[in-house]
Amino acid sequence: MDNNNYALITGASSGIGKSCAEALAKDGKNLILIARRMEKLEEIKKQLESEHGVDVLIYQADVRDDGQVDEFFNQIADKPIDIVINNAGLARGKEQFENAKWENFKEMIETNIKGFTKIAHLSISFLKKTKGHIVNISSIAGLQAYEGGSVYCGSKAYVQMISRALRLELKDTNVRVTDIAPGVTETDFWTVRFHGDKAEGNKAYEGFAPLQAKDITDCIIFALTRPEHVNIDTMLVMPTEDRR
Ligand SMILES: NC(=O)c1ccc[n+]([C@@H]2O[C@H](COP(=O)([O-])OP(=O)(O)OC[C@H]3O[C@@H](n4cnc5c(N)ncnc54)[C@H](OP(=O)(O)O)[C@@H]3O)[C@@H](O)[C@H]2O)c1
Repeated sequence: MDNNNYALITGASSGIGKSCAEALAKDGKNLILIARRMEKLEEIKKQLESEHGVDVLIYQADVRDDGQVDEFFNQIADKPIDIVINNAGLARGKEQFENAKWENFKEMIETNIKGFTKIAHLSISFLKKTKGHIVNISSIAGLQAYEGGSVYCGSKAYVQMISRALRLELKDTNVRVTDIAPGVTETDFWTVRFHGDKAEGNKAYEGFAPLQAKDITDCIIFALTRPEHVNIDTMLVMPTEDRR
């Protein structure tokens, strides 16, 4: 990893994105972090800059909003970026398809599909300049459907297919493309899914030890630190005791 360059992480205000920011900063990497909750990003910036002496640039942007994402990329146009972790995403609700709220579907589609695509699309020119690496965060849900997961599962299968196509399209540019597919991971994801109901969210971990954000970060760092001729295409990471 070249520490003169920056790693761009979307959804860096909590969970897997925040954990990646911490691990990369520890290795001396400069960071560009985006999320909607600026106060969380400010705390992370303060901590990582003082602990590791890296440059941490933070931007408030909602990946669903094309204008905000365009404006964000304009602001970082002169920055050398060799890592993009396209991580911002969420699930909303777990109702059967016919009973689910349209607003929940719309939020997942606009975040996990539209926002994800826009970030990937605008990142490629940066990564071609640095022979960089894009890591897309999909999910076990992209490989295995479950009742109440229809649109979320579909959105993560989309992430996986875009990753495969991108790896093929970029093979002659030395840009690497990795799809990381986590199983159940203990982050705010599950509380967000149930609109702030933590007790409902915690049911996702019943009966087994879930993954931690750091476990996913370790896999991402492994993919990022392979020699240039090695492209980890996909990593599916499951909690050991989760037999689904
Ligand atoms: N946790 C799991 O079990 C699990 C399993 C498989 C895959 N994943 C995937 O892993 C990724 C990270 O999730 P996580 O588990 O770390 O959950 P998390 O702790 O809830 O983090 C999600 C991050 O995405 C950001 N985000 C959400 N919507 C956004 C938007 N419209 N614009 C900008 N940022 C947005 C959030 O920031 P703000 O709210 O501040 O904007 C937050 O930083 C997601 O793509 C998720 O689908 C999670």
